[in-house]
Amino acid sequence: MKTAETKVLAPSVKKMTTKTRPETIKSMFGEIAPKYDAANAILSFGLHKFWNRRLAKSADKNNPEILLDLCAGTGEIAYLWLKRQKTLKTAILLDFCPEMLDIAATRAPKNHELSFIEGDAQNLPIPDNSVDAITIAYGIRNVSEPKLCFQEVFRTLKPNGSFSILELTEPNHSWLRWGHTIYLNKLLPFLGGIITRKPQAYRYLSSSIQAFVRPEVLTEHLNQIGFKNIKAEPLSGGIAHLITCNK
Ligand SMILES: C[S@@+](CC[C@H](N)C(=O)[O-])C[C@H]1O[C@@H](n2cnc3c(N)ncnc32)[C@H](O)[C@@H]1O
Repeated sequence: MKTAETKVLAPSVKKMTTKTRPETIKSMFGEIAPKYDAANAILSFGLHKFWNRRLAKSADKNNPEILLDLCAGTGEIAYLWLKRQKTLKTAILLDFCPEMLDIAATRAPKNHELSFIEGDAQNLPIPDNSVDAITIAYGIRNVSEPKLCFQEVFRTLKPNGSFSILELTEPNHSWLRWGHTIYLNKLLPFLGGIITRKPQAYRYLSSSIQAFVRPEVLTEHLNQIGFKNIKAEPLSGGIAHLITCNK
């Protein structure tokens, strides 16, 4: 019987995702780090700016003092959130890829407190009940055990703290899904390959979107862990989802 988590994938897609080890993912991100932001802007046709703003806004609901951004990459989300703040705030950027964090450090804004942690989103070196808001953008599909990450988020958030997940997903509408599949399988690896000269990294990114579980599976994990106010909102016809909840 097919469960909600089962998806039938082309053999090449299966090979690229279920067998891609964290070390391989880490070195792939390390290789594309210098061109990552430029590639993102072109490959998402600028849509990621709109989605990122929605994420930063969702993290702001309870006027947090400390934000932890998981899979922080080059700092796009943490810095966008800091830009919205009128008083001194703290942002902690965590990523397991040092090359990404190095670039984040070079773009750091001046008027806030920042810390950079090279670490795994499934094993956070952060004390219990210590953070007001946690975000993760385009990161959870790369994490081998999303549920472990969610448990760590629950442990480190203060009571009522917010957790916001932004992730690329497959749209439900059949026509949109058809175009989206062509984009993921052909255009993204081709253009990503030209921009970064690492087509295999963009083949992985495409296949990781297609192989990733549906948003309903993620919300079910969050529910089982004890999060409340769980909402999943499709963005741009479902090619991305914003999931928000509180501890
Ligand atoms: C697609 S990038 C997203 C970067 C950033 N959040 C953004 O919005 O541009 C995914 C990031 O997740 C990081 N990553 C993947 N798996 C991770 C893990 N288990 N722990 C920490 N970072 C991870 C990668 O190194 C990469 O920087």
